[in-house]
Amino acid sequence: MRIPLNKNTIGASEKKALNKVFDSGYMTMGKVTKKFETTFAKYLGVKHAIYVNSGSSANLLAFSAIQDNDKYRQTNHKKFFLKKGDEVIVPAVTWSTTIWPIAQTGATSIFVDSEPSTLQMKISEIKKAITKKTKAICIVHVLGNAGYIEEVRELCKKKNLWLIEDTCESLGVKKNKKYLGTFGDIGTYSFYFSHHITTVEGGMIVTNDDYLANKIKSLRSHGWTRDMDDASNYEKKFPEIDPRFLFINVGYNLRSTDMNAAIGLVQLKKLKKYNESRHMIGKKWNEAFSHLKKKGLFFPMEITKGTKASWFGFPVLCKSQEMRNKLKIHLEKNGIETRPIICGNMTKQPGIKNIRYRIHGKLTGADEIMDKGIFWGSSPGMTKTEINHVIKTINGFFK
Ligand SMILES: Cc1ncc(COP(=O)(O)O)c(C=O)c1O
Repeated sequence: MRIPLNKNTIGASEKKALNKVFDSGYMTMGKVTKKFETTFAKYLGVKHAIYVNSGSSANLLAFSAIQDNDKYRQTNHKKFFLKKGDEVIVPAVTWSTTIWPIAQTGATSIFVDSEPSTLQMKISEIKKAITKKTKAICIVHVLGNAGYIEEVRELCKKKNLWLIEDTCESLGVKKNKKYLGTFGDIGTYSFYFSHHITTVEGGMIVTNDDYLANKIKSLRSHGWTRDMDDASNYEKKFPEIDPRFLFINVGYNLRSTDMNAAIGLVQLKKLKKYNESRHMIGKKWNEAFSHLKKKGLFFPMEITKGTKASWFGFPVLCKSQEMRNKLKIHLEKNGIETRPIICGNMTKQPGIKNIRYRIHGKLTGADEIMDKGIFWGSSPGMTKTEINHVIKTINGFFK
């Protein structure tokens, strides 16, 4: 038996939708993308959703949107836009491209420890990490669980800070009945192959803020005014330039295509079913392994209060690093693919030497997650036999 980290969920209906776009002859970003964006925004209950080619691109645009880099647009925002040397608080346990976009704005990443039990950023440490230079907090909802978003939102309100929610690993998860990614100024999502839904590659940015949404649309596409709702303002300001080709900012090309969006529209319809399945699989394994937890051998991720998790995979921490290493070999030998918990402690990754960063306090939790943690897949398409194979394999190891 082979249990991969993720199973392909792209089937006949996605292929049909894809072919329809292909046959239409209009494949680049257009009407289907717009429909995917409005459907996604409606699903989450937000004003704007902007489709891009990856979750990393969504993060890049999120931090670029709160950067002090917009000469021609008026905003009455009371928050301070990021300048070189400003600080952004981030968890030590996250994906690399939560961090690199912060460096690209010139800001400094301030790493805060994560809880070994829930894998989420420690709320008590976030408070202590705030300095006069702090301009934003980026919370990352790790592996289908939720971070302490309500508390962080309060903190951001009190201290006048931007709140970015990297929700790439927790699409469709709610905290106290509100979707993750909709609490802050900007939420980001990934539709990479292994995520809650897929467009093969892809990502989305959501916001309720008109100014940020328009800026993101321009930055997504060359710094162009073409997709902006307020394009006419700039057309009036620069009458000597052809309004169809007016560029007002230092943009990228992070667009996706109507073909990917068509897959996304089909997948979005299945999200509820997929998440329910991931939730049930997680619950089942938690019950099955409770005796190992009682014995202090093996600790599945704990779900934060008020969250209905949709397990991205099944992360566990073993009693020791040695045990984790042996378990990894045992699982792989039995056909169960494994991986580390995201990037472990990001400050231990060699690439970190290329950016400006500071560690707040100690990262003992993140180290523990890196040294003793492991996860395997909890794909929505898993069969009963596969779910039981994992239980038997783990119990066999501890016997
Ligand atoms: C927390 C987090 N942020 C960002 C990303 C980047 O998403 P993508 O792979 O779509 O670029 C990932 C990818 O897995 C992620 O886990």
